Amino acid sequence: MENWETVQVTTDVLICGGGMSACGAAVEAAYWAKKNGLKVTLVDKATPVRSGAVAMGLSAINEYIGYAAGENTLEDYVRYVRQDLMGISREDLVYNIARHVDSSVHLFEKWGLPIWTDENGKYVREGRWQVMINGESYKVIVAEAALNAMAEAGFEVYERVFIVGPIMDGDRIAGAYGFSTRENKFYVFNAKAVYAGMGGAVHVFRPRSTGEGLGRSWYPPFNSGATTYFTLTAGAEQTCQEIRFIPVRFKDAYGPVGAWFLLFKSRATSAVGGEYMAVRKDELNNWAPYGLAKPIPANLRNYLGMLDTDEGLGPLYMETAEAIQNLAEAYKDDQKAFKKKMKELESEAWEDFLDMTVSQAILWAANNIYPEQSRSEIAACEPYFIGSHSGGSGAWVSGPEDLDTPYKWGYGNMTTVKGLFTAGDGSGASSHKFSSGSHAEGRWAGKNAVKFALENADLPSIGDVEALKEATFAPMKRFEENKGYTTDPNINPNYIRPMQFMFRLQKLMDEYAGGVSSAFKTSIALLERGLELLEMLKEDSEKLGAETAYELERCWENIHRMWQAEVHIRTIIFREETRWPGYYFRADTPKMDEENWKVFANCVYKDGNWEFFKREIHALCD
Ligand code: FAD
Ligand code: ADX
Repeated sequence: MENWETVQVTTDVLICGGGMSACGAAVEAAYWAKKNGLKVTLVDKATPVRSGAVAMGLSAINEYIGYAAGENTLEDYVRYVRQDLMGISREDLVYNIARHVDSSVHLFEKWGLPIWTDENGKYVREGRWQVMINGESYKVIVAEAALNAMAEAGFEVYERVFIVGPIMDGDRIAGAYGFSTRENKFYVFNAKAVYAGMGGAVHVFRPRSTGEGLGRSWYPPFNSGATTYFTLTAGAEQTCQEIRFIPVRFKDAYGPVGAWFLLFKSRATSAVGGEYMAVRKDELNNWAPYGLAKPIPANLRNYLGMLDTDEGLGPLYMETAEAIQNLAEAYKDDQKAFKKKMKELESEAWEDFLDMTVSQAILWAANNIYPEQSRSEIAACEPYFIGSHSGGSGAWVSGPEDLDTPYKWGYGNMTTVKGLFTAGDGSGASSHKFSSGSHAEGRWAGKNAVKFALENADLPSIGDVEALKEATFAPMKRFEENKGYTTDPNINPNYIRPMQFMFRLQKLMDEYAGGVSSAFKTSIALLERGLELLEMLKEDSEKLGAETAYELERCWENIHRMWQAEVHIRTIIFREETRWPGYYFRADTPKMDEENWKVFANCVYKDGNWEFFKREIHALCD
């Protein structure tokens, strides 16, 4: 520990994370802070130009309202999100994001992002809400704007600094602590306001991928539950922590399906050729009113496919060849035009992956898949926590001041902890913000964080940082002290290495909390047993051992995941119904209960105790 220098940084607004929402927060906060003589500091565990979920690039911007052109109203979007989340959404937050999202998209374009346009210069829509982009460098472009804004204001950005946890001063956030993975430095950040934008979580559940492919998941392997850990352990109220997200993806390389369903109008079928969305239509009656309205919620679409799989009708397939043929059909009479169209569609099909999930293109090539000639396998992924997509987990945040909403207690997007803000994957019950909405929400939160720092000008106290340092490096000390005890450093009675710890967490989540191997089903008995095992795992988290700084990072990532797992299991237990079949199915309460459970399931963790309670849903429009 003596080899690790302690560096203390004092700032007004601290931004933790460098993803889409944090880049939005940085652009906005840098502007307002500079104007008001305040300082902003940003810390990312990686480098913002290639960090977070957008690191590999994207092929579409999934939230664009087209408000100025009258394409959609804000209320249309509020209704869409309500429908997709089976009635559970914070409509004030969704509305707020919707009214700001187009301006983020216009900024992206101004900063250099190529957005597809048609012959009239209008954005090409993938579906009603999405616009197509050439997005391989999406994150580079968005990060560059944020980094420039920070640099022009003279503010510092710390890269490769992993945030371990929050520092509190009573009921107010006082900063954060962490360490560099490149230099022997322990960091303590003291701030008046903190923005937690460290994404969602993956690898809480056992992934389908094994061996060398372990890190190949749909969600980026580097987001490991830091935002939930940070806000939860700071004492911030949580919401919708039961709403995990399970995307259906091209199997094994997790290639996206949105373009196939929406742009190419493809069908998904079972091995015997039945289109599960048509064959199993009657099942949707059981999930009325949401099952009977359009668009059919993502979890119900998943569920109908899972019913096929359960009956042994798998593998499931995306009918790519049929979709391409159908789109080219109109050109059939002119062979030259037909060939040209086929080539164009074929290259769009590959580009969709090359922009966003390169490994899917490699897998297609490796498996001799020609999308225009054959269908391609799809499957439901393991569960992820991504409140900005079609999941809902996150912190309970204050609504916008100017809207008629019962959920507001001060600054927009502030959690229930004074001075602690979040957005993107960090704020719950406001799904379907995606990359663009996360950026817009981050901007909103960043601006409000500056306002908070201005109006609460005293710097909170950070207390004893030596104790934090000791706790942070304990796994390294433990490893060092005990490594000579066995001949194989991986097997030792005095410590557990983070990889083995992660396998244990994933196994119990998979088998007890409804992962892939239990076909996404669970029950109260399974959940309670899972919780018992989790408690024991928690005890053993005091025995984690790390050889290097990177392994120390892995230790803390897994502690973050463990807390994400616990709040998830506990919230599923609290909600005594099945509302999102296709995400998870509680076999002991197999039906949806609109009368008792059309509510938010919220919780607070304080002084070692969990408190769970319902909060009412307030509709913003009809
Ligand atoms: P992220 O952008 O993921 O950023 C998280 C940040 O936190 C990163 O900088 C990370 O390095 C940092 N971090 C994590 N832990 C720590 C820590 N302990 N300390 C410090 N820093 C930390 N949206 C679309 O609009 N269109 C799409 O086509 C689309 N496709 C997607 C495909 C995939 C595979 C995924 C996963 C998401 C997709 N999305 C898409 C959604 C979009 O990527 C997210 O909504 C958005 O990135 C969320 O922003 P965020 O800031 O909350 O998290
Ligand atoms: S992505 O994040 O990897 O791009 P995905 O490909 O599932 O996600 O979806 C992109 C967008 O299309 C999202 O807005 C999603 O809600 C929407 N979408 C995907 N499939 C369908 C479908 N079958 N019906 C309606 N919307 C869909």
